[in-house]
Amino acid sequence: MSTTYTLDTGTSRANPTPAPLRRLTIPGLRARKVDGVTAEPIVSLTAYTARQAQLLDAHCDLLLVGDSLGQVIYGLPSSVPVTLDMMAAHGAAVVRGSYHSVVIIDMPFGSYEGSPEQAFESASRLLKETGAAGVKLEGGIAMAETIAFLSARGIPVCAHIGLTPQAVNALGGYGPRGRDEAEAAKIMADAHAVAAAGCFAMVIEGVVEPLAAKITAAVPCPTIGIGASAACDGQVLVTDDLLGMFERTPRFVKRYADVASTISQAAADYAAEVRARSFPTADQIYGAKK
Ligand code: KIV
Repeated sequence: MSTTYTLDTGTSRANPTPAPLRRLTIPGLRARKVDGVTAEPIVSLTAYTARQAQLLDAHCDLLLVGDSLGQVIYGLPSSVPVTLDMMAAHGAAVVRGSYHSVVIIDMPFGSYEGSPEQAFESASRLLKETGAAGVKLEGGIAMAETIAFLSARGIPVCAHIGLTPQAVNALGGYGPRGRDEAEAAKIMADAHAVAAAGCFAMVIEGVVEPLAAKITAAVPCPTIGIGASAACDGQVLVTDDLLGMFERTPRFVKRYADVASTISQAAADYAAEVRARSFPTADQIYGAKK
């Protein structure tokens, strides 16, 4: 049975029918990996709006309010200009639109790298203002101290290693990582460092298949792959990519729909009706007053 929503205009909450699903928890997701084996893979997608969250929620375990919203929602050239204000606003919308999935929010570039204290200030603001359960931040060994600092203070952290898009200016692009031995060894060391620091999970992005599989076998917490390996303990994708909202998507993305064409066609049909003056009038819609 599909879920329908009634908007409570007082609180902006969409109340689901049938009754709310119970929200999953971060310890519950973390506990899915036992002795290196995750029997039930973690299903994760990005979400940026309340309506998107409503539609994805029942199908996912983890909704990520990704800083990819910089490109997807705001048309920015990268995630570098994304701000804490943006993440807080979209994070709150996604929490309001979901009842079942764990919601975590990306820490934007510049909001956490300065010091563990800076990271705590930013992360605690995100949790207070949104109701999300945790944060994600990019970086390996260099971020281990910060991950330990936040985790010890009640802020669950999902790490993000391999291709780290906030570092696009240092990396020089979004190409796959871990192709040569030295880089693969560095990424493996990053994985061990963030796991030892206490992250509850780690995103492995754009890493060659055998390395992602090796990391998954080596670390105790779940790995969530994106353009990495089917062997990861879960997968995440940018929702707008799998929906087919863009002409160009990363090569590893399978499109499950062609929503861009549907929107375009609907707008074209509407425009044609307006121009032909065949747009339905209020009388046609509501019935003429007698
Ligand atoms: O910002 C984002 O959407 C992400 C995912 C692609 C992992 O970090």
